[in-house]
Amino acid sequence: MDDLNVLPLLGSLRQGSYNRMVLAAARELAPAGVTILPEPELREIPPYDDDVRESSGFPPAVQALREAIAAADAVLFVSPEYNFSIPGLLKNAIDWASRAPDQPFAGKPVGIMGASGGPAGTARMQYHLRQVLVFVDALPINKPEVMVGTAQSRFDNSGRLTDETTEQFIRDHVAALAAWTRRLAASNG
Ligand code: FNR
Repeated sequence: MDDLNVLPLLGSLRQGSYNRMVLAAARELAPAGVTILPEPELREIPPYDDDVRESSGFPPAVQALREAIAAADAVLFVSPEYNFSIPGLLKNAIDWASRAPDQPFAGKPVGIMGASGGPAGTARMQYHLRQVLVFVDALPINKPEVMVGTAQSRFDNSGRLTDETTEQFIRDHVAALAAWTRRLAASNG
């Protein structure tokens, strides 16, 4: 398998988002041959409504998201934790994308990172997300986990990652996702 395209799904809309900073660091730390694509604008995804889907199909932003997931070699979730779980923005996008036909998460290699203001670094969100990924038949990597706690202490004023331990976890996670993606592709012939 040649170069890999990884689609990031970012769970925060804030410009100053720590998760946006983590994603920027992941882009810089990705190994040669791995491109982390621009993140889709999840703000455009409407609230899930099955009546809309049944009467007029997937809204354009949802259709674009589904096609982007299907076309990517892997998906990388980068998200905060809201109230110990997955932000509604991200869960809503997953819910739309997960509907038949051609459910695009099925068999898709997945990475997961998260940054939070609290000390647990999105651990609870990440385990809820892993549960959701079971239903949609995605294939997340197990380790290394990237749980960036007290995120406000790990970036400088320009939003650049300054913490070397976090940097190593992010580098290793993207490399592990790339290796996992290539391994799955090889086993699928
Ligand atoms: C939070 N925050 C938060 N932090 C945490 O560690 N565990 C949590 O359950 C929550 N819950 C929560 C709910 C809501 C609605 C908000 C807005 C925030 C704080 C959160 O980690 C912090 O705001 C991060 O900075 C959000 O990520 P971004 O936007 O910086 O990427």
